[in-house]
Amino acid sequence: MTRSFPSLTPKHVINALKRGGFYVHHVKGSHCTNGRIRLVSQSLLSQVLNLGVRLRAARRFGVVRTGVRLLRKTGVLDTRALRRWDLLHDDGVSRPQRMRTFLQYYEARASESGSWAPLDFEGKRVLEIGCGPLGGWGPLAIERGAADYVGVDPGMDPDLLGDPALVRGYLRAVFADLRAGDGTDADFEVFRKQFADRARYAAASIQNLDTSERFDLVLSNSCLEHINGFDDFAAHLARRMATGARMLHLVNFSNHRDKASPFSSIYEMPPDVYHKRFGRHINLLRAREMGAAFEHCGLAIQWIPLDVQTDALSRLSVDPWWTARYDTDTLALRTALLVDSGSTR
Ligand SMILES: C[S@@+](CC[C@H](N)C(=O)[O-])C[C@H]1O[C@@H](n2cnc3c(N)ncnc32)[C@H](O)[C@@H]1O
Repeated sequence: MTRSFPSLTPKHVINALKRGGFYVHHVKGSHCTNGRIRLVSQSLLSQVLNLGVRLRAARRFGVVRTGVRLLRKTGVLDTRALRRWDLLHDDGVSRPQRMRTFLQYYEARASESGSWAPLDFEGKRVLEIGCGPLGGWGPLAIERGAADYVGVDPGMDPDLLGDPALVRGYLRAVFADLRAGDGTDADFEVFRKQFADRARYAAASIQNLDTSERFDLVLSNSCLEHINGFDDFAAHLARRMATGARMLHLVNFSNHRDKASPFSSIYEMPPDVYHKRFGRHINLLRAREMGAAFEHCGLAIQWIPLDVQTDALSRLSVDPWWTARYDTDTLALRTALLVDSGSTR
């Protein structure tokens, strides 16, 4: 959240800092009282702690993209043109194969762990939670025959996907990948129309999604660990699920910062200390609490472990808060699939 003030008094700053570690930067002008000043909801401390991540990003993305990202993320300049440019130059998220290969991998791993019933999109109503800025599994769902698709993500700009540059630069390439290079321009036109008719996006969370629709298939990719107020979220989700609905959620229990040391910071302190220091970008729930929240709402689930990092765990000095509550298997789980209990038959 960004708050703008036509002028800023010391009282504004002190109150803002008290409320949650805001920091202040000048948008225009060099003096607090004559420029527009914004308070950005990320603490100076967490910005400094994330400096290493930023420097690594600068090496990976190059100076221009890192500069654009900083302008956007700090709220200095976050226009649609800049967001579009940033997304189209982000190989990480705009790789056309990305969402298809994720799903293919998850289903392959799920098959190894039992007799997984593959997800069938034909005629289904599909809901994706936290679909991200480029529409998540929406194009795949429509191409595989979904009756409709709803993607919810409070951080997204739903109109961005209709932008002609994104249709040409992203959606076209996703379609080509889904058709393994066989889709003609005419096929793409048919698909683009179906996508426009059947896929909807909302800058919302499931708690404030304005629909009474019930869904047959509910998906998310690395989103559940970011949801604060998880019990409330699960209750709302349960109300949106049709009888016999299927679910597939990839959950990433790591710190989202350091792949070589995925649990550092998290297990080195109790959760409240982590949240004060790094913000609430992840909820720090483990599989047990997430599963319990779903089951409390009548959603029977099962976990399929994907990546267990016992070595990374053993290199840490784990705070007793964690060891008193969880066994090693739970703590070492980096990623897992949370699926409905009927998924393996
Ligand atoms: C790590 S990103 C993953 C995005 C996308 N699924 C992907 O794979 O690229 C997590 C996403 O969850 C979204 N998110 C956070 N809280 C949410 C909530 N309560 N409901 C829906 N989405 C949420 C964020 O805005 C963000 O886009």
